[in-house]
Amino acid sequence: MGERWQAVDDYIAAKLLGDDDVLATTLANNAAHGLPPIDVSAAQGKMLFLLAQIAGAKRILEIGTLGGYSTIWLARALPESGRLVTLELEPHHATVARTNLDRAGVSSKVDIRVGPAADSLAAITDEPPFDFVFIDADKLNNAHYVREAIRLGRSGTTIVVDNVVREGGVLDVDSDDERIVGTRALFDMLSADPRLDATAVQTVGAKKWDGFVLARVRQSPPAKRNEKR
Ligand code: SAH
Ligand code: DHB
Ligand code: MG
Repeated sequence: MGERWQAVDDYIAAKLLGDDDVLATTLANNAAHGLPPIDVSAAQGKMLFLLAQIAGAKRILEIGTLGGYSTIWLARALPESGRLVTLELEPHHATVARTNLDRAGVSSKVDIRVGPAADSLAAITDEPPFDFVFIDADKLNNAHYVREAIRLGRSGTTIVVDNVVREGGVLDVDSDDERIVGTRALFDMLSADPRLDATAVQTVGAKKWDGFVLARVRQSPPAKRNEKR
Protein backbone atom coordinates (compact mmCIF):
# COMPACT_ATOMS: atom_id res chain seq x y z
CA MET A 1 0.00 0.00 0.00
CA GLY A 2 2.92 2.35 0.64
CA GLU A 3 3.39 3.10 -3.06
CA ARG A 4 -0.24 3.98 -3.48
CA TRP A 5 -0.17 6.22 -0.39
CA GLN A 6 2.82 8.02 -1.96
CA ALA A 7 0.99 8.27 -5.31
CA VAL A 8 -2.04 9.86 -3.65
CA ASP A 9 0.22 12.34 -1.86
CA ASP A 10 1.78 13.16 -5.26
CA TYR A 11 -1.72 13.70 -6.66
CA ILE A 12 -2.67 15.97 -3.73
CA ALA A 13 0.55 17.94 -4.17
CA ALA A 14 0.01 18.33 -7.92
CA LYS A 15 -3.59 19.46 -7.52
CA LEU A 16 -3.46 21.59 -4.38
CA LEU A 17 0.08 22.57 -3.48
CA GLY A 18 1.81 23.59 -6.71
CA ASP A 19 5.54 23.82 -7.31
CA ASP A 20 7.51 25.52 -4.61
CA ASP A 21 11.20 26.06 -5.38
CA VAL A 22 11.97 27.31 -1.87
CA LEU A 23 10.61 24.18 -0.20
CA ALA A 24 12.17 21.84 -2.80
CA THR A 25 15.55 23.55 -2.30
CA THR A 26 15.12 23.25 1.48
CA LEU A 27 14.73 19.48 1.25
CA ALA A 28 17.67 19.20 -1.18
CA ASN A 29 19.84 21.37 1.09
CA ASN A 30 18.89 19.26 4.12
CA ALA A 31 19.93 16.08 2.29
CA ALA A 32 23.18 17.68 1.10
CA HIS A 33 24.04 18.45 4.72
CA GLY A 34 23.21 15.00 6.04
CA LEU A 35 19.93 15.79 7.79
CA PRO A 36 17.50 12.83 8.01
CA PRO A 37 14.41 13.10 5.76
CA ILE A 38 11.93 13.21 8.63
CA ASP A 39 10.30 16.56 7.83
CA VAL A 40 6.52 16.67 7.57
CA SER A 41 5.22 15.98 4.06
CA ALA A 42 4.15 18.80 1.77
CA ALA A 43 0.45 18.06 2.34
CA GLN A 44 1.05 18.00 6.10
CA GLY A 45 3.04 21.24 5.92
CA LYS A 46 0.14 22.92 4.19
CA MET A 47 -2.21 21.51 6.84
CA LEU A 48 -0.05 23.15 9.54
CA PHE A 49 -0.11 26.41 7.55
CA LEU A 50 -3.91 26.26 7.32
CA LEU A 51 -4.39 25.33 10.98
CA ALA A 52 -2.20 28.24 12.07
CA GLN A 53 -4.18 30.61 9.84
CA ILE A 54 -7.52 29.22 11.04
CA ALA A 55 -6.31 29.82 14.61
CA GLY A 56 -5.37 33.39 13.64
CA ALA A 57 -1.95 32.72 15.11
CA LYS A 58 0.37 35.68 15.66
CA ARG A 59 2.85 33.85 17.90
CA ILE A 60 3.88 30.29 17.11
CA LEU A 61 6.10 27.93 19.11
CA GLU A 62 7.74 24.96 17.37
CA ILE A 63 9.66 22.23 19.18
CA GLY A 64 11.98 20.38 16.75
CA THR A 65 13.29 22.52 13.86
CA LEU A 66 15.45 20.08 11.87
CA GLY A 67 16.13 22.03 8.61
CA GLY A 68 13.17 24.34 9.02
CA TYR A 69 10.82 22.74 6.49
CA SER A 70 7.79 22.83 8.80
CA THR A 71 9.08 26.15 10.17
CA ILE A 72 8.78 27.73 6.72
CA TRP A 73 5.19 26.51 6.30
CA LEU A 74 4.25 27.88 9.75
CA ALA A 75 6.11 31.18 9.33
CA ARG A 76 4.25 31.77 6.06
CA ALA A 77 0.97 31.56 7.98
CA LEU A 78 1.96 34.54 10.14
CA PRO A 79 1.15 38.16 9.50
CA GLU A 80 4.13 40.49 8.94
CA SER A 81 4.19 41.34 12.65
CA GLY A 82 3.95 37.68 13.69
CA ARG A 83 6.73 35.76 15.42
CA LEU A 84 7.80 32.11 15.53
CA VAL A 85 10.11 30.62 18.15
CA THR A 86 11.58 27.24 17.15
CA LEU A 87 13.65 25.01 19.45
CA GLU A 88 16.38 22.69 18.18
CA LEU A 89 18.92 20.53 20.03
CA GLU A 90 21.51 20.14 17.26
CA PRO A 91 23.60 23.19 16.31
CA HIS A 92 24.21 21.70 12.84
CA HIS A 93 20.47 21.38 12.19
CA ALA A 94 19.97 24.96 13.32
CA THR A 95 22.71 26.19 10.98
CA VAL A 96 21.13 24.44 8.00
CA ALA A 97 17.71 25.73 9.02
CA ARG A 98 18.98 29.33 9.14
CA THR A 99 20.14 29.07 5.51
CA ASN A 100 16.77 27.65 4.47
CA LEU A 101 14.79 30.26 6.40
CA ASP A 102 16.89 33.06 4.87
CA ARG A 103 16.24 31.71 1.38
CA ALA A 104 12.52 31.50 2.17
CA GLY A 105 12.53 35.15 3.26
CA VAL A 106 11.05 34.42 6.70
CA SER A 107 14.14 34.84 8.91
CA SER A 108 12.98 38.15 10.35
CA LYS A 109 9.95 36.40 11.87
CA VAL A 110 11.81 33.35 13.21
CA ASP A 111 13.91 32.94 16.34
CA ILE A 112 15.83 29.63 16.49
CA ARG A 113 16.90 28.69 20.02
CA VAL A 114 19.56 25.97 20.19
CA GLY A 115 19.77 23.46 23.04
CA PRO A 116 17.59 20.84 24.73
CA ALA A 117 14.01 22.03 24.26
CA ALA A 118 13.18 21.43 27.94
CA ASP A 119 15.85 23.98 28.90
CA SER A 120 14.81 26.50 26.26
CA LEU A 121 11.20 26.17 27.40
CA ALA A 122 12.10 26.61 31.08
CA ALA A 123 13.88 29.83 30.13
CA ILE A 124 10.68 31.31 28.68
CA THR A 125 9.09 33.11 31.59
CA ASP A 126 8.21 36.57 30.40
CA GLU A 127 6.93 36.43 26.81
CA PRO A 128 3.43 36.97 25.42
CA PRO A 129 1.44 33.73 25.12
CA PHE A 130 1.74 31.48 22.08
CA ASP A 131 -1.38 30.99 19.96
CA PHE A 132 -0.20 27.82 18.21
CA VAL A 133 2.31 25.14 19.23
CA PHE A 134 3.75 22.41 16.97
CA ILE A 135 5.59 19.63 18.83
CA ASP A 136 7.92 17.46 16.70
CA ALA A 137 11.16 16.68 18.58
CA ASP A 138 12.23 13.86 20.92
CA LYS A 139 9.09 11.84 21.55
CA LEU A 140 10.01 10.76 25.09
CA ASN A 141 9.39 14.30 26.33
CA ASN A 142 6.09 14.87 24.54
CA ALA A 143 3.92 14.95 27.68
CA HIS A 144 6.27 17.51 29.23
CA TYR A 145 6.20 19.59 26.04
CA VAL A 146 2.40 19.66 26.06
CA ARG A 147 2.40 20.79 29.71
CA GLU A 148 4.85 23.55 28.76
CA ALA A 149 2.67 24.50 25.78
CA ILE A 150 -0.23 24.97 28.20
CA ARG A 151 1.92 27.07 30.54
CA LEU A 152 3.11 29.24 27.64
CA GLY A 153 -0.27 29.42 25.91
CA ARG A 154 -3.68 30.83 26.77
CA SER A 155 -7.20 29.49 26.66
CA GLY A 156 -7.80 28.65 23.00
CA THR A 157 -4.18 27.88 22.14
CA THR A 158 -3.90 25.16 19.47
CA ILE A 159 -1.45 22.31 20.06
CA VAL A 160 -0.41 19.85 17.32
CA VAL A 161 1.88 16.88 18.01
CA ASP A 162 3.48 14.90 15.16
CA ASN A 163 4.17 11.14 14.98
CA VAL A 164 1.72 9.82 17.54
CA VAL A 165 0.76 6.58 15.73
CA ARG A 166 4.06 5.23 14.35
CA GLU A 167 2.63 2.47 12.15
CA GLY A 168 0.50 1.31 15.06
CA GLY A 169 3.44 1.16 17.46
CA VAL A 170 1.44 3.27 19.90
CA LEU A 171 -0.44 0.09 20.88
CA ASP A 172 2.72 -1.71 21.97
CA VAL A 173 2.40 -1.67 25.77
CA ASP A 174 5.71 -3.45 26.34
CA SER A 175 7.79 -1.43 23.88
CA ASP A 176 11.30 -0.51 24.92
CA ASP A 177 11.44 2.06 22.10
CA GLU A 178 11.47 5.35 23.98
CA ARG A 179 9.53 7.02 21.15
CA ILE A 180 6.64 4.62 21.78
CA VAL A 181 6.96 4.93 25.55
CA GLY A 182 6.86 8.71 25.16
CA THR A 183 3.87 8.61 22.86
CA ARG A 184 1.90 6.43 25.27
CA ALA A 185 2.81 8.77 28.13
CA LEU A 186 1.49 11.62 25.97
CA PHE A 187 -1.87 9.86 25.52
CA ASP A 188 -2.04 9.16 29.28
CA MET A 189 -1.35 12.82 30.00
CA LEU A 190 -3.94 14.01 27.47
CA SER A 191 -6.61 11.67 28.80
CA ALA A 192 -6.06 12.91 32.37
CA ASP A 193 -5.52 16.64 31.92
CA PRO A 194 -8.76 18.63 32.26
CA ARG A 195 -7.18 21.71 30.70
CA LEU A 196 -7.34 20.32 27.15
CA ASP A 197 -9.76 19.08 24.54
CA ALA A 198 -7.85 16.59 22.41
CA THR A 199 -8.11 14.06 19.62
CA ALA A 200 -5.70 12.12 17.43
CA VAL A 201 -6.10 11.50 13.70
CA GLN A 202 -4.26 8.74 11.85
CA THR A 203 -2.63 9.56 8.53
CA VAL A 204 -1.13 7.63 5.63
CA GLY A 205 0.93 9.04 2.77
CA ALA A 206 4.50 9.85 1.88
CA LYS A 207 5.36 9.52 5.59
CA LYS A 208 3.73 6.09 5.81
CA TRP A 209 1.23 5.34 8.58
CA ASP A 210 1.37 7.85 11.39
CA GLY A 211 -0.81 10.55 12.93
CA PHE A 212 -1.22 13.85 14.69
CA VAL A 213 -2.62 14.86 18.04
CA LEU A 214 -4.76 17.99 17.81
CA ALA A 215 -5.58 19.72 21.09
CA ARG A 216 -6.94 23.03 22.27
CA VAL A 217 -6.49 24.66 25.66
CA ARG A 218 -9.92 24.98 27.24
CA GLN A 219 -11.50 28.17 28.35
CA SER A 220 -10.49 28.59 31.98
CA PRO A 221 -13.48 28.45 34.34
CA PRO A 222 -14.69 31.96 35.21
CA ALA A 223 -13.18 33.23 38.45
CA LYS A 224 -15.72 33.14 41.27
CA ARG A 225 -16.69 36.50 42.63
CA ASN A 226 -15.79 37.34 46.21
CA GLU A 227 -13.64 34.25 46.38
CA LYS A 228 -10.41 36.06 47.16
CA ARG A 229 -9.41 39.59 47.64
N1 SAH B 1 9.63 19.78 12.46
C1 SAH B 1 10.62 19.34 11.47
C2 SAH B 1 11.14 17.95 11.77
C3 SAH B 1 11.75 17.82 13.14
S1 SAH B 1 12.67 16.31 13.30
C4 SAH B 1 9.95 19.34 10.11
O1 SAH B 1 8.84 18.78 9.99
O2 SAH B 1 10.52 19.88 9.15
C5 SAH B 1 13.01 16.34 15.01
C6 SAH B 1 14.06 17.38 15.44
O3 SAH B 1 14.03 17.46 16.84
C7 SAH B 1 15.50 17.02 15.04
O4 SAH B 1 16.11 18.08 14.36
C8 SAH B 1 16.19 16.78 16.37
O5 SAH B 1 17.55 17.17 16.39
C9 SAH B 1 15.37 17.64 17.30
N2 SAH B 1 15.45 17.24 18.70
C10 SAH B 1 15.63 16.00 19.22
N3 SAH B 1 15.68 16.05 20.55
C11 SAH B 1 15.53 17.34 20.91
C12 SAH B 1 15.51 18.04 22.14
N4 SAH B 1 15.67 17.41 23.30
N5 SAH B 1 15.36 19.38 22.13
C13 SAH B 1 15.18 20.04 20.96
N6 SAH B 1 15.20 19.43 19.75
C14 SAH B 1 15.38 18.10 19.73
C1 DHB C 1 11.19 10.51 13.44
C2 DHB C 1 10.90 11.76 13.92
C3 DHB C 1 9.94 12.54 13.32
O1 DHB C 1 9.62 13.77 13.78
C4 DHB C 1 9.27 12.08 12.19
O2 DHB C 1 8.33 12.89 11.62
C5 DHB C 1 9.57 10.84 11.70
C6 DHB C 1 10.53 10.05 12.31
C7 DHB C 1 12.20 9.67 14.11
O3 DHB C 1 12.79 10.12 15.10
O4 DHB C 1 12.42 8.57 13.65
MG1 MG D 1 7.78 14.51 12.95
